[in-house]
Amino acid sequence: VDQSGRTAAVVARVRRLVHDGTLREGDRLPSTRALAAELGVARGTVVAAFEQLDGEGYIRTRQGAVAVVAASVTVRADDVVRPAHRVPDGAAADRAAPLDARPGLPAVTAIPERDWRGAWRRAADEPLRNTLSDPLGTPVLREQVAASLSLSRGFAPDPSRIVVAAGTSEALSLVAEALRAHLGRAPRIAVEDPGYRTGRRALTSAGADLSPVAVDDDGLDPDALATLERIDAVVVTPTHQYPLGSVMPVARRRRLLDHAARAGVLVVEDDYDSEFRHRGAPVPALAALDTAGSVLHLGGFSKTLDPRLRCAYVVLPRPDGTQGAAAEAVVTARRARGPVVAEPVQAAVAHLVRSGALRRHLGRVRRDYTHRRERIAARAAAEHGLEARALNGGLHTVVTWSGPATGRAVAARTAAAGVLVTALDEYDVTPGRSPAGVVLGYGALTLPELDRALDTLFAAVHAPD
Ligand SMILES: Cc1ncc(COP(=O)(O)O)c(C=O)c1O
Repeated sequence: VDQSGRTAAVVARVRRLVHDGTLREGDRLPSTRALAAELGVARGTVVAAFEQLDGEGYIRTRQGAVAVVAASVTVRADDVVRPAHRVPDGAAADRAAPLDARPGLPAVTAIPERDWRGAWRRAADEPLRNTLSDPLGTPVLREQVAASLSLSRGFAPDPSRIVVAAGTSEALSLVAEALRAHLGRAPRIAVEDPGYRTGRRALTSAGADLSPVAVDDDGLDPDALATLERIDAVVVTPTHQYPLGSVMPVARRRRLLDHAARAGVLVVEDDYDSEFRHRGAPVPALAALDTAGSVLHLGGFSKTLDPRLRCAYVVLPRPDGTQGAAAEAVVTARRARGPVVAEPVQAAVAHLVRSGALRRHLGRVRRDYTHRRERIAARAAAEHGLEARALNGGLHTVVTWSGPATGRAVAARTAAAGVLVTALDEYDVTPGRSPAGVVLGYGALTLPELDRALDTLFAAVHAPD
């Protein structure tokens, strides 16, 4: 590493300490001599770094005095959501990094440190064993999942029907692989259009052929599904269509289930963010209405806890129902793939569920998400020709407008201004399906960040082409 590389490393290190709140306004930095000795670099390297940091406004240096952290860059206490030592190193904490308002991230940092650490301590307390993991998942986690589904989703599966997966995407790929083995050919799977891109990728890479089905204000249209021939499975988000946010009404749910039972279609219910309904009555799972045994229900902890856990679950349809053989194929595929979620992760998650920590966390973040959605609704209402949709539940909004700008043009403009959002048409299977719009995730944004994202977005929508 040359001198400039070492200088850059010192600069980056100090910036990071300021961003994560370790260094605050007025804090004194060590002398250049002391810091050089501590870091094992030449004093000139530190002097150059301090000059650069002064120029960037991070610190103030004066001849003959110690350098101090400048006021303008100090993170305000209310901006720091998480304790300083939990701020990730590197890009995410870098001031120059864009604000990521793409959908997907929940308020992970709102999980109380005590609960989080407690769960991992419990996981570490599990006795060591000379046996392999059960590929279907640990009994404790499967029991906890079954119990919480019966409390919150309106159906009470037996724990033996629950299979652990490494996120919804792994679950979808598992299902596609199971169907392929069971049918002896590529499964034909209907997907929502617009819909979940990562899910589509998981299905196709496991060998499925996809057929798009249009969604409207009531979600996927079962009549449109019925016009497709020889469909083996359909993947739906009935509680909160992704990304448009519609809720499938009960009448349509019944039509979908009737068609599925008659045509032998496996209905894969992706229940990814049903815990967050901000308005209206809670919506039970599609699986709660399923009497024929057509529904395979997918849930997970990516929205309620942390997507980095990669912990999700499949609830298999009844063994004696219309999809009993497909359910058996999923179990076979799970055993063949082997365990995918490390047992300590399963133990920690099970503890967060059983101890009530997850329930308390959800109670708190629901209120935060409601504030955020109200802020979005109020601010969008004040903007001419602009609409914020999909706000009755979940962690994202769909912003559409009447002007000529395309979603991609607006997303490119906001990106240039340091805010990342996703163009709505990125979710389209059929080009041109969606109106001009962007999807903005608000789960992980503080209110000031949300305001900044909205300011940037509204300016980008109104900007002349
Ligand atoms: C429609 C949908 N399903 C599922 C998930 C969760 O995916 P995973 O469980 O793989 O983290 C998401 C996350 O963005 C999603 O948007």
